Amino acid sequence: MPGILEPQVEKYLSSLLPERDAVLADIEKYAKERDIPIIGPDCGRLLWLMARLSGANRIFEMGSAIGYSAIWFARAAGPAAEIYCTDGDPANAELAHKNFERAGVSKNIRFMTGEAVDLIDATDGTFDIILIDVYKHQYPAALKKSLPRLKSGGLVITDNVLWSGRVAQPPKDDNTRGILEFNRMVYASPELFPVIVPLRDGVAICRKS
Ligand SMILES: C[S@@+](CC[C@H](N)C(=O)[O-])C[C@H]1O[C@@H](n2cnc3c(N)ncnc32)[C@H](O)[C@@H]1O
Repeated sequence: MPGILEPQVEKYLSSLLPERDAVLADIEKYAKERDIPIIGPDCGRLLWLMARLSGANRIFEMGSAIGYSAIWFARAAGPAAEIYCTDGDPANAELAHKNFERAGVSKNIRFMTGEAVDLIDATDGTFDIILIDVYKHQYPAALKKSLPRLKSGGLVITDNVLWSGRVAQPPKDDNTRGILEFNRMVYASPELFPVIVPLRDGVAICRKS
């Protein structure tokens, strides 16, 4: 996926990244070979940092693919991690289970298959972090579903909110319109404090008051 930064800046940022362990490196390679849009190592580090800084344990992911972002979260949250993963594709769930096993985080993760935006209804309580990484036209609906389930002081973290720069042009498709509406909603919300980090494809980090 093309990022929003100059290619040479992307390359420089990548050159700074420490090598990942074999599990993450293998997932990155697998995803690259098959065009699976995982969050990548620079944003993975951002997820780790947000989870660690906020002391998050209970995390819900809308859109988990093969488990890459969940492994970053699980490692940040440690033994108390309780990560709920979702994806519409059972083949992704199967691969994710293998990746969790290899990463030693299986006991911290529950993977549900189906419609991610609705699967949060099958859980109880509130979450410390909700990651939104589903189809982009669903972002406004995903945000509406997430807010009541986020604890006070919790974070909703959303990937691809700059959508390769398409947000700065007249929208031509429902995905771009979904992201534009999502970005408008978070900045208009009286209960959210959002910051968009222009890393890779843009990550919105919003704290709920
Ligand atoms: C961008 S990938 C997730 C990547 C993952 N968060 C990571 O960084 O490792 C999006 C995934 O969400 C799934 N997906 C998209 N919209 C969905 C929906 N409404 N319900 C369930 N799964 C969905 C797709 O099958 C895809 O695997």
